[in-house]
Amino acid sequence: MCGIIGYAGTEEACPILLDGLERLEYRGYDSTGLALFTKDGGLLRLRAAGRLSALRRCVTQRLEQGADLHGNAGLGHTRWATHGAPTKENAHPHRSQEGKYTVVHNGIIENYAKLRGELEAAGIRFASQTDTEVIAHLLEQLDTGNPLETLRRALPRLEGSYALGVLYHAQPGTLYCARRQSPLLAASCVRGVLLASDAAAILPFTRTMFRLEDGEMAQLHANGAIFFFDAQGRALQKAATEIARHTTAADKGGYVHFMRKEIAEQPECLARTLAPLLSGGEIHLGESEAALENPGGIRRVLFLGCGSAHHAGITGRMLVEELSGIPASAELASEFRSAATAVDRHTLAVIISQSGETADSLQALRLAKEKGARTLSVINVEGSSIAAESGSVLYTRAGLEVAVATTKAYSAQLAALCALAARLGALRGQDPARLRDFVRSLAALPELAREVLADTEATAHAWAQELQSVQHAYFLGRNLDYATAMESALKLKEISYIHAEAYAAGELKHGTLSLIEPGTPVVALCCRPEVIPKTLGNAQEALARGAKLFCVTNRQNPLPERCLTLPPCHPLLVASLAVLPMQLLAYHCADLRGCDVDKPRSLAKSVTVE
Ligand code: G6P
Repeated sequence: MCGIIGYAGTEEACPILLDGLERLEYRGYDSTGLALFTKDGGLLRLRAAGRLSALRRCVTQRLEQGADLHGNAGLGHTRWATHGAPTKENAHPHRSQEGKYTVVHNGIIENYAKLRGELEAAGIRFASQTDTEVIAHLLEQLDTGNPLETLRRALPRLEGSYALGVLYHAQPGTLYCARRQSPLLAASCVRGVLLASDAAAILPFTRTMFRLEDGEMAQLHANGAIFFFDAQGRALQKAATEIARHTTAADKGGYVHFMRKEIAEQPECLARTLAPLLSGGEIHLGESEAALENPGGIRRVLFLGCGSAHHAGITGRMLVEELSGIPASAELASEFRSAATAVDRHTLAVIISQSGETADSLQALRLAKEKGARTLSVINVEGSSIAAESGSVLYTRAGLEVAVATTKAYSAQLAALCALAARLGALRGQDPARLRDFVRSLAALPELAREVLADTEATAHAWAQELQSVQHAYFLGRNLDYATAMESALKLKEISYIHAEAYAAGELKHGTLSLIEPGTPVVALCCRPEVIPKTLGNAQEALARGAKLFCVTNRQNPLPERCLTLPPCHPLLVASLAVLPMQLLAYHCADLRGCDVDKPRSLAKSVTVE
């Protein structure tokens, strides 16, 4: 998490850093800061608790007070707190005691307590509770007068993960950086050099950038030159990566919130994702076909991801088993890492991630590769770390997603997984007529999604008015509807702060039913035809205990309660449609409760710590 931006060149650095932070704010937004080499050779540091707007106010105040903020090099940081509260003191950049080194950091230094003890014993006074501050002091303690050599000596002492941006007091036009496990990019453009944790901050300047790999360091000069080094300090030649421009602009397009705009964009995102995969009524995965070579050798498909991506994985598991007959499972990437899950060369590991940077998913990919699995990633951000390290990549084409709570990227993931499942089915010789029928329905999904969004908006808003003041809500479903229930509950809790839980409808009676009292809201997802009667039975059990029942279904009025009716669709596509009104429900609940819809408290869009 945390966003890093660095610039050195011929332009004024302060506005470039602030604009870069704006584009990175989704990575974390509890405090921000910047360090700037001023014209007189001084190093100015400005930090503020809270959103970027607080730092902008601080800059304005300084200017009004007559401060000179002219300068051509500096670093900026937007923080997602790990060690220490989100205060000004804990905001980056952090500085060494004598001010020789100034650092911004993304990641976690796992042995920071030990290092801090050693540094304090050597007489160093700490100004923050962060793990990052130890890096600044350690660099100063080991200072050789050559920052690169100092970094080479200091980095082996750090355990954990880092993307580091470093300024050295005596070299105003130079940026230093290093990476282990957390993403970091460097680029040069006509106006100088840039350093960023994510391509979004660099794209306004250039599409060509260099991705630092684990253990690498770089030295960036204001004249545009960048030098790369390995962990031993040996010079490296690196190939640049070309990033396609985002297809969607980072503006709200007339909507009040990005999330609402992104919900509305889903029909186009589905169409864009599916178009390159569909041809002549069949699925072809293009370059990703490489992961499916010798399909008879795939004995298991394992989906890995975090948060919503995990829910997409659960849906993917069901689709793969139904359409291809290959045993499949879905695991949380963070749990997979500590479990002894059987994975071998007969496993196809499918890593799902919108950002392509989620630390747990990246580590899960590495572990799956180590165990010999073939790897295929379903990724939305081109050139991201997971995309770069996967055997094959199946891109979702949702475009830039800004709201922290995913909507359009999730839908695009489901569509890509439908295509993958159908392709596996075809390669494994499953009934062609059944597959053709599915693919035909899949091709019609974008239009159906458009219809559902238009038809359910008013009901979702009305339900939100009823739900906005509750403290708890339960979502029930079986099979694909259960996966939707999980995603619906996550959406509601992450943005509206209403406690929401998803239950496999049949499990309710094994404990949770005791929590259902008169008035408790229960949303029953009844869309997969084969399980509707049973889910309805479970919904009746809740109703009998006084639950306030809301039903999402594609049957005509199966319950006397509030019903949101979806159009008929292929039984295996219900998850793609039912989630749409549930996104709208969460959105309206959060909006009615006055929550910060696009930037929910304590969360971040790209989670690059484990
Ligand atoms: C964060 C976001 C979630 C997202 C998860 C996985 O927790 O808040 O919305 O589902 O990360 O992100 P990824 O980029 O890997 O899909």
